[in-house]
Amino acid sequence: MKNKFLYIQTFGCQMNVHDSEQIAALLKNRGYQITDNAKLADLILLNTCSIREKAAQKAYSELGRLGKLKEQNPSLIIGVGGCLAQHLGHKLHKRMRQLDLVFGTHNIHKLPDMVTDIERRRIKLTEIAFHKTVSSIGVFAEPTVGSISAFVTIMQGCNNFCAYCVVPYLRGPETSRLAEDITEEIRRLAERGIKEVTLLGQNVNSYGRTLAGNWNFTRLLKKIAEIPGILRIRFTTSHPRDLSDELIMCFAEEDKLCKHIHLPVQSGSDKILALMNRGYQVNEYMKKIDALRDVCPSISITSDIIVGFPGETANDYQETIDMMEKIRFDSTFSFKYSERKGTAAYKLTEKVDEYEKSVRLKLLQELQNRHTQEIHNSLEGSVQQVLVEGRSRNSANDLTGRASSWKIVNFAGEPDLIGTIADVKITKAYLHSLRGKLMNSQEVGDAYRNESSRFNN
Ligand code: 5AD
Ligand code: SF4
Repeated sequence: MKNKFLYIQTFGCQMNVHDSEQIAALLKNRGYQITDNAKLADLILLNTCSIREKAAQKAYSELGRLGKLKEQNPSLIIGVGGCLAQHLGHKLHKRMRQLDLVFGTHNIHKLPDMVTDIERRRIKLTEIAFHKTVSSIGVFAEPTVGSISAFVTIMQGCNNFCAYCVVPYLRGPETSRLAEDITEEIRRLAERGIKEVTLLGQNVNSYGRTLAGNWNFTRLLKKIAEIPGILRIRFTTSHPRDLSDELIMCFAEEDKLCKHIHLPVQSGSDKILALMNRGYQVNEYMKKIDALRDVCPSISITSDIIVGFPGETANDYQETIDMMEKIRFDSTFSFKYSERKGTAAYKLTEKVDEYEKSVRLKLLQELQNRHTQEIHNSLEGSVQQVLVEGRSRNSANDLTGRASSWKIVNFAGEPDLIGTIADVKITKAYLHSLRGKLMNSQEVGDAYRNESSRFNN
């Protein structure tokens, strides 16, 4: 088989990053090898996101740029997948003549046959149908050689219909993947050297609702924790309404579960939360945070926040700021509300001015940076267990990895530590990472003795 090159560009969330990994694994069987040089490619795929207008615009401009490569290489195949493809379907062909292939969020498994068909017949294809048993979650991803951490899809779609969000329309109804398939995939990943898995779904807390046999997310977590070789488990994303006491307890009881939760709050105003159709009030969210910190004082908590949702007054915005001051998130992803056609919020009339949104976002991000830096500063002198992922990109002598809290830690060390959990003493806090010093076994023993005597006294 002739070796062909695939250039794949991914926009948006971890779900898309993972879908791209699956696409790469599927097309490898048809002779496609990944390249990071679009000019060498025989096949270019854009895995798009349309959650906010900005992401969609970026995809369009990339399409325009990459489309020009066809002038030099007429046999080049160009395809668009992901949420934008799901949304626009065959209309994308009209918008861009150079396009050969459009595939939606449920059609990744069809991609190899579609590509082969285009290679043979030079036709234009579109596949955006939804399927009951979602295709891409049946595809086992192949981890990149040498990687330590992998994503595993446990469910797809979403039934929540938050008023601002296109995901339920573009990724279909919530569907859980069979627990046996998930554990089998993780077992295979562990055999290939993966030490950490991140379980992916739009709302992992509702895992199992579409399955027979009393499955829920906690039961799944415990099953995964039994798999030999897996040292750490993470998950994303949780919906605050569905975060159960049982799952909160796992942060105290399940050693392999990392001490980090991403719990999108979206707003600190009850009025806005109701308009957003989030299904909880601020005090209920705060109670969950208290419960998490009660069972696991060191837990790192991150969140998503939207500013400028229709109807958000200066007062509502201030309530978000007040909530942030109370909670002090480790970090947040924050966004200006982006209007999406077809969503419930699209019909709301009290729009917030773009400039006002930018001001609110900037102030909120400054506050968050202050909190993040202060939290990082408080970690100086602490010992963190770092899963070493590889060499640092910035310095040849440094290794890089993540603490259980998801914070990036860099330190000087030998590459034989890659794939192991190292004890690292934090020496310097930055906004986006921590720097540390590898501890020797004597120092680790002393540190634990000090820690336990502190608790015994
Ligand atoms: N505008 C702005 N942010 C949005 N998000 C989802 N839809 C929109 C939108 N229309 C944000 C939410 C969600 C994150 C993945 O993206 O905060 O949690
Ligand atoms: Fe969108 Fe809400 Fe579903 Fe998250 S829970 S994907 S924000 S509808």
